Amino acid sequence: MRVINPDHRLIAHKLAYLRDKRTDSPTFRRLAEELMTLLAYEATRDVRVEPFEIETPVAPTTGIKLSNPKPLIVPILRAGLGMLEGMVRLLPSAEVGFLGMQRDEETLQAITYANRLPDDLSGRQVYVLDPMLATGGSAAHAARTVKEAGARSVRLLSIIAAPEGIAALHDAHPDVGIVVAAIDEGLDANGYIVPGLGDAGDRIWGTR
Ligand code: PRP
Ligand code: URA
Repeated sequence: MRVINPDHRLIAHKLAYLRDKRTDSPTFRRLAEELMTLLAYEATRDVRVEPFEIETPVAPTTGIKLSNPKPLIVPILRAGLGMLEGMVRLLPSAEVGFLGMQRDEETLQAITYANRLPDDLSGRQVYVLDPMLATGGSAAHAARTVKEAGARSVRLLSIIAAPEGIAALHDAHPDVGIVVAAIDEGLDANGYIVPGLGDAGDRIWGTR
């Protein structure tokens, strides 16, 4: 499995403000969206395309366009929703499906409480959005769900990953690529990423 961790100062700059506990929710959301657009640029390098003929005002030439079926973007609610706009900005013709998942904070197991995906994902490239890859339970569950629906390739876009989460996702789904802004030290006793940024859902949506 490929892990892409782009080395870019703008990514590091925006991430530092996301981590800062003084950053308020509106600023957090804006930064998460901006960061997402930068990650999406890397994640979509090999998006499926096909050639088509065009005419410039000067001469005919060949361009490329996104192939059908179009890619599917799947934010994992709640926190992944805060990343959606930044991704859609780059891929406006992509379709969007939703998975609602919550981690049981005692067992750290992911529970699916909503599934609004197209029934048939045959041949689709799927981009799963979830800012935090902690134990990897939520991401592995999401990857299994979209693969069972027929997805042809799955890529996870995250803001911060723990090495434990990367390893767990790799064990369960070696074919799923990860694009992530930072790989942190590890998990604390409560399954939070250290140093991380805290509870991403609460920080994006201003809840406690
Ligand atoms: C957070 C985060 C991920 C998950 C990561 O969601 O957004 O989905 O935890 O943890 P894992 O890798 O150990 O599964 P949470 O369950 O807090 O739900 P929320 O997005 O609604 O806040
Ligand atoms: N979920 C979060 O929102 N933050 C973490 O650090 C781990 C899981």
